[in-house]
Amino acid sequence: MKKFSSIGDVEDPEALVNLALEQKFNPYKWDQLGKNKTLGLLFFNPSLRTRMSTQKAAFNLGMNVMVMNLNSDGWTLEFEDGSIMNSTSQEHIREAAAVVSQYCDIIGVRTFPTFKSREDDYAEKVLNGFIEHASVPVISLESATRHPLQSLADMMTIKEHKAKKKPKVVLSWVPHPKALPQAVANSFVEWAKEAEFDLVIANPQGFELEASITKGVQVVCDQEEAFKDADFIYAKNWSSFDDYGKIGENLDDWMITPERMALTNQGKFMHCLPVRRNVVVHDKVIDSENSLVIKQAENRVYAAQAVLLKMLKDEN
Ligand code: CP
Repeated sequence: MKKFSSIGDVEDPEALVNLALEQKFNPYKWDQLGKNKTLGLLFFNPSLRTRMSTQKAAFNLGMNVMVMNLNSDGWTLEFEDGSIMNSTSQEHIREAAAVVSQYCDIIGVRTFPTFKSREDDYAEKVLNGFIEHASVPVISLESATRHPLQSLADMMTIKEHKAKKKPKVVLSWVPHPKALPQAVANSFVEWAKEAEFDLVIANPQGFELEASITKGVQVVCDQEEAFKDADFIYAKNWSSFDDYGKIGENLDDWMITPERMALTNQGKFMHCLPVRRNVVVHDKVIDSENSLVIKQAENRVYAAQAVLLKMLKDEN
């Protein structure tokens, strides 16, 4: 595997979920494979789970890890070819990615959308710049439009907790005071479609995800209707795709409450974290026995480990 930027890079997603679950049950089986290999983790944005779980995954495989916060500690990068760099940019992605490739055997990049231009964000200039100009495999640690490591961990978690072959899984928009990316939701839909769940997306009008991603999925604007008989509720806020970056106003009744969860089939609650309590989800839901949020975070280690393993073994 030369890159892991979306489900499109994965030959057999179900096999990758199974490989990740195998890592969970035998985490040190390949603890010599990464000896003398280095993982470089480059963060343009904050992280708790991705940063720590990916390091832990690398340690389980015997790798060394270097972590850099590029925005605060690195030079300001230029991504446009042919640009005259006489303003704020100090280093071109062509040199930066090539140089990091001299020090690292695999590179991970976290880069959020800027919300200045939907076209630029969806072109994934930063992640694709690294993929194009690095000479080693590149992993998305969440990019402007997708978060595949999160989705892989989420698919593991649903597989572990589902009681029927085809569970009803609801991806529900939830309130949030700041503009958040569509990345987690986009990825979740792509992976859940592949897993052939009974997938329903619930979002307020104006918060539809990109049409090519949701093609073939039932989308409803009534959260109560969507929750009926659901086995899993995956809560996530995203800002508007159509009115790009716009946040929802006066939509507090989309918060996940015990009353809404009571409509489900004793549904499990999921969220990628971090989460704003009593804005996104009521304390009683996230603290309930049916909350899987910590298990999802645990699975982030083994999701990353499966991807690193495939890259170290140079498998598709
Ligand atoms: N879910 C997730 O990616 O968490 P972090 O932003 O803390 O890495």
